[in-house]
Amino acid sequence: MQGVTVVDHPLVQHKLTLMRDKDRSTTNFRQLLNEIGMLLAYEVTRDLPLELVEVETPLEKTMKPMIAGKKLVFAPILRAGVGFLDGMLTLVPSARVAHIGLYRDPETLTAVEYYFKAPSDVAERMVIVMDPMLATANSAIAAVDRLKARGVTDLRFVCLLAAPEGIAKFTTAHPDVPVWTAAIDSHLNDHGYIVPGLGDAGDRMYGTK
Ligand code: PRP
Ligand code: URA
Repeated sequence: MQGVTVVDHPLVQHKLTLMRDKDRSTTNFRQLLNEIGMLLAYEVTRDLPLELVEVETPLEKTMKPMIAGKKLVFAPILRAGVGFLDGMLTLVPSARVAHIGLYRDPETLTAVEYYFKAPSDVAERMVIVMDPMLATANSAIAAVDRLKARGVTDLRFVCLLAAPEGIAKFTTAHPDVPVWTAAIDSHLNDHGYIVPGLGDAGDRMYGTK
């Protein structure tokens, strides 16, 4: 699929299967999401541009690669996207963070914004939007719309689980934004839940059901 990378690393797949188990504890669910966040950060940053900089070792001066350009921005979609954030920041501790508060209206499944806070120079940076679930894609599309309205042009989207319907809708709405996911499941049910999925990611993370 054009612009979509399925991260089939065995560690990611193993941890995702553990997360799907309906009897998995809240603590364990959160821990696994954090660990997968770290592994996905490794994948989504694999092709970041490098530049040669001078470094002086104990033996001599030499030119060696470092990541080029301004620091990344991680943009978790609240609430469940926050579950990825610590893991991603463990790998990229200097990243900036933009919080995007959205919830799905349970009747219409449209995304409703309740919070947005991004670095003032966000338009000059690469922004990695994160949310464990890409279901109808309404939330992901709204988040990217919002960032583009702020002038951001260099965007990536990372999720844990996607529905084929969500992938199709997102890549049509934002063909310039590549997607990384650990799995593409079977379909969406009548309530907009991913099947087989893992249920409501936010509720399972925070024990709110
Ligand atoms: C969930 C999930 C995504 C969204 C995905 O959030 O974390 O943000 O649904 O669904 P979509 O692709 O159909 O938009 P929810 O609205 O339940 O909020 P929460 O994270 O606060 O629980
Ligand atoms: N949001 C979730 O948390 N889970 C789904 O399956 C769909 C949307």
